[in-house]
Amino acid sequence: MRPFIIDTDTASDDAIAIMMMLKHESIDVKAITTVAGNVEIEQTTKNALFITEQCNKDVPTYIGMKDYLLRPFESASFVHGNDGMGDVDLIHTNRKPNEGHAIDIIPKIIKENAGEINLLTIGPLTNIAMVLLKEPELAKLVKTCYVMGGACSVGNITPVSEFNVWADPEAAKIVFESGINIHLITWDAALEAASLDYQDLENLRNLDTNLAKIAVDIQAVKKEWNWKENGKKSVEIADPLAAAIAINDTCIKKSITVGVKIICEGDINRGQTVIDYNNQLPDANTVKITYSASKENFIKMLKETLI
Ligand code: BDR
Ligand code: CA
Repeated sequence: MRPFIIDTDTASDDAIAIMMMLKHESIDVKAITTVAGNVEIEQTTKNALFITEQCNKDVPTYIGMKDYLLRPFESASFVHGNDGMGDVDLIHTNRKPNEGHAIDIIPKIIKENAGEINLLTIGPLTNIAMVLLKEPELAKLVKTCYVMGGACSVGNITPVSEFNVWADPEAAKIVFESGINIHLITWDAALEAASLDYQDLENLRNLDTNLAKIAVDIQAVKKEWNWKENGKKSVEIADPLAAAIAINDTCIKKSITVGVKIICEGDINRGQTVIDYNNQLPDANTVKITYSASKENFIKMLKETLI
């Protein structure tokens, strides 16, 4: 089994990503670490604990950073709901997080599984940046850091920036410049493969399992928001696509290995992932990017999780 740490700002799409990882027989989730992002840290933690309970798994879960490195906290509750999970009054759990802070536990797990451990980051990169600031040499002990983030063509929070990178761009810059082996799954890939229309959602809910019902019902606020704000009768679930690609390569259609530079400055450009297609930026960091993915294969993996 491949060992993983999942670092998450657990909301409506992170929740399904966690289900996919916990339920796949080839994946050993050593810990879940929470970070502020979609909603405040107390709520992202509660949401993660709720999902582990619903999956009947006892995965150690640790609280991480409650603020971004330099910037004031801004959430995406307008997309995911005040509880991050569609405000459908589902999130009840007596589970409590484990003792210890994420940024102390992540290094411990990396060292115990040196060279083998993978990270799946599906929120702002604040925790991982803190870990690498403290112990930069850990970058080389991580096999692959799968990152849901960034955009090659179109963003979701500005025309060019995706939320996870935008929220804490200084953290993203630290992680990208650390030398850690990154596989980025961008918003472009999510738009192509992980945009579920109402029929897709109904098909999933008709699987009629507890997890299928939760997975669909927690999309309520996002569904509403995407219709009102964007005129779309669909929801994009980016994080489960990143999880699917971390699990295996069956969803990948197009990847490139290329230099990337994170932009921190500017209103529109904050959080932009500039892709150096023509090798014009000598200081860009080389990463693998999956920017095109198969919806058919993704739905297949989703169903296998939710059934
Ligand atoms: C990312 O931002 C969050 O709102 C989602 O959970 C996902 O991680 C998509 O841009
Ligand atoms: Ca997320």
